[in-house]
Amino acid sequence: CGIIGYTGDSTALDVLLTGLSSLEYRGYDSAGVAVSDTTLSVHKCEGELSALKAVLPDGSVRGHTGIGHTRWSTHGPPSNVNAHPHTDCDGQIAVVHNGIIENYQALRHDLKARGHTFDGETDTEIVPHLIEEFLAEGADQETAFRQAIDRLKGSYAIAAVFTASETVYAARHESPLVLGIGEDGHYLASDVPAFIEYTNQVIYLNDGEFATITPDGVTVTDSAGIVVDAPVETILWSPEDAGKSGYNHYMLKEINEQPRALRQCLRGRVNELLRIVQVDEVINLETPNAVQFVACGTSYHAALYGAQFFRECGVMAQTFLASEYTAATVPMGEGTLVIGVTQSGETADTMRALREASAAGATTLAMTNVVGSSAARECDHAMYIRAGPEISVAATKTFGSQQVAAVLLATALIGVADQSLLAALRGLPDHVQTVLDSSRARDVAEAYLDADSYFFIGRGYNMPVALEAALKTKEITYKHAEGFAAGELKHGPLALVTEDTPVFALLTAGVNFEKTLSNVREVEARGGPVIAVTDSPKEVKGYADHVLEVPETHSTVAPIVANVQLQLVSYWIANRLGRPIDKPRNLAKSVTVE
Ligand code: G6P
Repeated sequence: CGIIGYTGDSTALDVLLTGLSSLEYRGYDSAGVAVSDTTLSVHKCEGELSALKAVLPDGSVRGHTGIGHTRWSTHGPPSNVNAHPHTDCDGQIAVVHNGIIENYQALRHDLKARGHTFDGETDTEIVPHLIEEFLAEGADQETAFRQAIDRLKGSYAIAAVFTASETVYAARHESPLVLGIGEDGHYLASDVPAFIEYTNQVIYLNDGEFATITPDGVTVTDSAGIVVDAPVETILWSPEDAGKSGYNHYMLKEINEQPRALRQCLRGRVNELLRIVQVDEVINLETPNAVQFVACGTSYHAALYGAQFFRECGVMAQTFLASEYTAATVPMGEGTLVIGVTQSGETADTMRALREASAAGATTLAMTNVVGSSAARECDHAMYIRAGPEISVAATKTFGSQQVAAVLLATALIGVADQSLLAALRGLPDHVQTVLDSSRARDVAEAYLDADSYFFIGRGYNMPVALEAALKTKEITYKHAEGFAAGELKHGPLALVTEDTPVFALLTAGVNFEKTLSNVREVEARGGPVIAVTDSPKEVKGYADHVLEVPETHSTVAPIVANVQLQLVSYWIANRLGRPIDKPRNLAKSVTVE
């Protein structure tokens, strides 16, 4: 879910709607706003933000203080009543929430016994009623808010407003919340893009902290109510960085931003002449005896690639799906480093795995794109991939940056640097640019638009890329797609290969090229169309129906470049099929529930 709050000189509704449109990637099954004036006006409905805009009354919501929400359901299906904000019995208090309140059933039961009635089924709805109870007992607004929050167990970022009040109250526990200090008012949101248009001065709230936001300033307090001297940080993204910059979709924009993202990831970290890689963030980290990666989705594929590179450097490394990881069952020796790869730094599965690893005695490191994210703050170390904001639900630019970050991290920790690899990393942004400028992916997409199923195969470093290409295709085209280790094709999936099953083969130069080529022949013999993604077009001639060429480079780096061709293929298939590419059905960018 996404939260926005504002109080200041501007018309709150405008600020809230702008903020919500930047937060829709966090959830978009319902949306709502509450604006405080002489009365509290609450408008909410099921559907995307456009549905909310359609039901807003013309010009009558004029207050300067308010909160808004875009929802991704966890309790109760998407519906008008389950949409946030939620209010108390008298409609004097409005609350928005992101997270899960674990003890809401018990609290709801108690409140019902005290005469409160509930319209919907969400966990959030108890919060305004709890506040109402404490107000009735004589507490002032702030105290009542704090007392209500104290009763909650679970994860939350919560904001509340009251009738005829210019103050927004907020609290956070295991769900992100950031405050914005502007000239025309003050803001709070789940994420910076929600208010970057108005200010780049931010304060990240920590777990257990409260914030009181008025037109005159923001005050952060700890759980005991003591004022915290919270540092104000400057965000260096421009508002354009969070906009579509002329592309039809964020996804295509983000695919095209990869050269810049990769340059930022490499900046100041690689010294080719001295053959060293230096990552300032991990300068005090000792070389681990063993590494365990935990991650989900695209980040998991980057972790598979990263673990392979650590092993090549001589460090025992494993990769786990975060949702399957339990520190209790994974043997963990002295000096184990557990790396959580997570673009958002907020994924609940990954956070839980990291917490378990930490409790079991591991050193933890967050490899993330979001400074100040929960993972970055909770882990012993954080390494930033520096890809810039990624808005499209389907991760693209962050994947390559995570792969590069893993190579940099391993090299920095182990201290051995292969000069040809360093040179290839330095050349990577240009190689990706070459692919972007010359790709025939759109033609290939057109040629195979009607297929019911797409297969992707690769070996070694190309194997995670095959998995990632299939995930991307599933996410945005809604077509069946599978990625396989090329060698596994003959152990089962080959039974599915017919002339209607295009097989994309990652054939970049390296030790396994010949073997992958023989797998391609197996496909060809069954009449399956083959699309080779390759730096060796001559060698694949005669076997491939289509070729997507990538520049020659180091065999470890080539798969990162090859992936860009497949990102473009999935994009153009989805585009021709008219899919809502940036917001695929049933998916969310940041999944903060297990
Ligand atoms: C969600 C997104 C995926 C993403 C995964 C992990 O499922 O839809 O695109 O790969 O979460 O996200 P993270 O922020 O931890 O990398």
